[in-house]
This record gives sequence, C-alpha cells and structure tokens, in this order.
Amino acid sequence: MAKTVLTYGTFDLFHVGHVRLLRRLRQMGDRLIVGLSSEEFNSIKGKKTVIPYEFRKEILESCRYIDKVFPEHNWDQKRSDIARERADIFAMGDDWAGKFDNLSDICEVVYLPRTSDVSTTELKKYMNAVNQEKLGAIRNMVDVLQAELKAVG
Ligand code: CTP
Repeated sequence: MAKTVLTYGTFDLFHVGHVRLLRRLRQMGDRLIVGLSSEEFNSIKGKKTVIPYEFRKEILESCRYIDKVFPEHNWDQKRSDIARERADIFAMGDDWAGKFDNLSDICEVVYLPRTSDVSTTELKKYMNAVNQEKLGAIRNMVDVLQAELKAVG
C-alpha cells in the first residue's frame, strides 16, 4: 500500500537544508505532504517571514518531492491532519526531536538530522549584515559630500 509522509515547517527563504530534508522525506514513502505555517501561526511562534505564505506555497508546490501543501494554522491540528491525510509517517528535522512523540499512537514519528550550517535565521542575519554594510557606505558618502559642500561655502 502507498505510504504517506507528513511534515511541517515555515520554509522561508527556501534553502539547501530544506531541499535535502524534503528529498529524504520523499524517499521514506510514496507521497509527501507539507503543512506550511501560515502568517498568523508564524506570529504566534514569534517568527516573521521574508516571503509571504502564497509565495512559500508556490515554491514548495514546484518542488518535485512534494505532492501537496496545506496551511498550518495552530499547534493542535496535527492529529486531525494525520487522520485526514491518512499519514503513515510524521517526520521533522531533529531540531524538533522528542517534541511530537505523543503522536506515535496514531503514526510512526521520525526525526531526521538537519543539514549543518544553513538556516533561514542565518540567511536573514547575512542579509542584515549586507544591508548594514551598504548603509555604512551610504553614510560615509553623505559625510564626504557634506564636508565638500562646507568647504565650497
Ligand atoms: N531543516 C533541515 N536542515 C536545515 C534547516 C532546516 O533539515 N539546515 C528542516 C527543519 O528541521 C524542519 C524543516 O527543515 O523540519 C523546515 O524548517 P524551517 O524552520 O522552516 O527552516 P529553518 O532554516 O530551520 O528556519 P529558522 O532558522 O527560521 O528556524
């Protein structure tokens, strides 16, 4: 019988850690379904995304490993999602290890090792640093221009 794998996440600034996780998840079954965090759920989790829900969904739907994407609105919907989608395996990266063991009465619960040294948080930090650098360069230019204007009188 076809095996369905279910996972959840925000998948903001889609990166190679996401690709590798999704590839391994798809290899564990025949159908991969993703519960994608909505904007409202992200604000409950204290996360602010760069990419809006509709675009994150479009990106995931274009990924060859994924068969279906639906919104995740709250912490409590997992049981009904597992039942509705007839999921055989619930799987997450191991940053969530142990957190969803209570679901093991209705399906297999698996945690896969994360890809090291890449995360959305790191990408956001990098983008922020680049912006700060650019801002610094612009401030320097303004200082130089002001000094020249003063010299001219
Ligand atoms: N993931 C992974 N390897 C990474 C980053 C994420 O396997 N290097 C997995 C997570 O464990 C999770 C899924 O990808 O199961 C979606 O994670 P998400 O939180 O959306 O991505 P992160 O890059 O971890 O985002 P953040 O830094 O905002 O937590």
